[in-house]
Amino acid sequence: MSKQLILALSKGRILDETLPLLADAGIEPAEDLGKSRKLLFDTNLPDVKLVVIRATDVPTYVQLGAADLGVAGKDVLLEHGVEGLYEPLDLEIAKCKLMTAGVTGAEPSRARRRVATKFVNVARRYYAERGIQAEVIKLYGAMELAPLMNLADEIVDIVDTGNTLRANGMEPRELIAPISTRLVVNKAAMTMKHERLKPLLERLEAAVAARR
Ligand code: ADP
Ligand code: PRP
Ligand code: MG
Repeated sequence: MSKQLILALSKGRILDETLPLLADAGIEPAEDLGKSRKLLFDTNLPDVKLVVIRATDVPTYVQLGAADLGVAGKDVLLEHGVEGLYEPLDLEIAKCKLMTAGVTGAEPSRARRRVATKFVNVARRYYAERGIQAEVIKLYGAMELAPLMNLADEIVDIVDTGNTLRANGMEPRELIAPISTRLVVNKAAMTMKHERLKPLLERLEAAVAARR
């Protein structure tokens, strides 16, 4: 195993909050990530490289060892599963909630419920644990539209301010899990590259603590 460390970053809103945190920990991309079509970047540290990928692909890269460590939303980890991963640090960014939601004022039916979500594994587990029969419908976005269009009775989605729900005549129902962004590390790398990983993890931990 090479002594180089590959850090996988989630594209999108997590990236915007990750870069300042990495900078606080002394890790800076060698070029402006936003201005490039490149996906693999050098950093100021000669043995650390960054890949910038879809948030939902980060667990796969780290699990399979293509990246040694990664930055991923807890929602993505809950949905994907964490086999082969350690989750040593809560980065305390991109905080939000994973919730069920439905049309404002409507009673959730006790009979078989149609649930639209991109978090199908989380949803199946959640309803099964509560003994609620659910038909889970996979969507890739705009879940808030599904009850409005009578595609579903309920959704499982990310809620932060609640603005998206309100704007579509919906309200939050049950909290499934509080969400924040986590650092994940490949289990084999944690052993094989421990000497190099340890100071990096410590600096990230200090950067997180300094913001509290
Ligand atoms: P996607 O295209 O998958 O929606 P985003 O960049 O919007 O990607 O979101 C990436 C991650 O950011 C999510 O997995 C979640 O952890 C977090 N997140 C999503 N929506 C919000 C929000 N409204 N407020 C805070 N964090 C959020
Ligand atoms: C996310 C999430 C919700 C919304 C919740 O969407 O999927 O729709 O934010 O935030 P709020 O409670 O503050 O309104 P995002 O903005 O990431 O759009 P997307 O559909 O492109 O993921
Ligand atoms: Mg989004």
